[in-house]
Amino acid sequence: MRTLLITGGAGFIGSHVVRLFVNKYPQYKVINLDKLTYAGNLANLKDVEDKANYKFVRMDICDFEGISKLMRDEQVDGIIHLAAESHVDRSIKDPLSFAQTNVMGTLSLLQAAKLYWNGKLKTENGERHLFYHISTDEVYGALELTHPEGVEPPFSTKASSGKHHLAYGDKFFTEELKYQPHSPYSAAKASSDHFVRAFHDTYGLPTVITNCSNNYGPYQFPEKLIPLFINNIRHRKPLPVYGKGENVRDWLYVEDHARAIDLVFHEGMIGETYNIGGFNEWKNIDLIKVLIHTVDRLLGRPEGADLDLITYVTDRAGHDLRYAIDSTKLQRELGWEPSLQFEEGIEKTARWYLENQDWLDNVTSGDYLRYYEEMYSDR
Ligand code: NAD
Ligand code: DAU
Repeated sequence: MRTLLITGGAGFIGSHVVRLFVNKYPQYKVINLDKLTYAGNLANLKDVEDKANYKFVRMDICDFEGISKLMRDEQVDGIIHLAAESHVDRSIKDPLSFAQTNVMGTLSLLQAAKLYWNGKLKTENGERHLFYHISTDEVYGALELTHPEGVEPPFSTKASSGKHHLAYGDKFFTEELKYQPHSPYSAAKASSDHFVRAFHDTYGLPTVITNCSNNYGPYQFPEKLIPLFINNIRHRKPLPVYGKGENVRDWLYVEDHARAIDLVFHEGMIGETYNIGGFNEWKNIDLIKVLIHTVDRLLGRPEGADLDLITYVTDRAGHDLRYAIDSTKLQRELGWEPSLQFEEGIEKTARWYLENQDWLDNVTSGDYLRYYEEMYSDR
């Protein structure tokens, strides 16, 4: 029996991680700690909420006293920390709350874990203590779009793994790259990564960090590109493409990220960093066209009928041009591989949102927020 604290478990990626751990490890007690901001939604976890090894606690990660008491009361021996403000556009409007949650919240958790574990690397039962910090590839900044002379991108190239894949440039994010964040969101995430490393190097706190590329899949809040556009295509609303749609992102199906987190939690080396990504680069405008064709087909419309919804709008300030993760270290050292091809993942994702219009309507109307405010108003 061990007790695991997962922060941000009511959010997009967190809900997939909670589901995986609750179902796969009945011998673990899984505590989902979440403040339930606009992005947190307990409906994401309906299928596990009654399981005996699952518990939900509504709390802010910045509440150092509350976290410390919870760790003592529940004898927490492992933490997977996902709670964060996660949307770049919001960070441009409101950088302070990003610094508060992503930096100060992470620091509050680190300090609580340091004091409670008090230098011990293992519990009396021999389980290892671990503070696992979930981070993003955006801390590395942005890469250039390059291509060999006479060859149109994407072109076939080899990362350090030796495997061929399609890319929009000859450089990749590796674990050794220096941090160069550009947005308030990525600056706050970078800062939190630095604090995690500092707690390992200064106090010997057993930590591990992973930096992952763009995730997609069910339960993502529809302010992010893929769910926003699926919803808009369905309702024949304009699709706001930032700039010329030439930015490149590296997409990973969320359940593949959750499987990587499971692997790193159990087998990752203390003090290490691992990049997670599926070598799956897409130019935004190309991805959007695939999405339109897929959604049109699933809705029984002529494929491509909704291409005219594409609307070019003012670019995001400081918009990073290209992200491309090199996950060779994780693949080589821990044997992780992404399981889904992108077209398959996009089809699965589009189908899920179209079949779960109630979920989308709830999160876009704010009904669920009012519901949970009332439910927890006496706490
Ligand atoms: P999300 O916005 O969907 O969910 C964040 C969750 O954190 C929500 O449930 C929210 O209620 C909770 N939360 C926010 N502030 C809190 C606070 N102060 N105290 C407690 N809970 C709080 O985010 P996501 O996309 O699932 O991302 C999860 C983590 O993974 C983040 O740390 C993010 O930086 C990282 N990440 C995300 C991606 C991606 O593509 N979405 C990729 C790489 C890394
Ligand atoms: O790389 C990992 C990161 O991926 C995570 O750390 C972040 O939490 C996550 O939000 C995501 O960041 P992005 O900014 O890349 O994701 P987003 O879905 O907001 O945008 C994807 C691309 O699409 C980006 O180039 C901006 C563009 N875009 C986005 C929106 C919402 C548009 O063109 N129009 C839009 O309306």
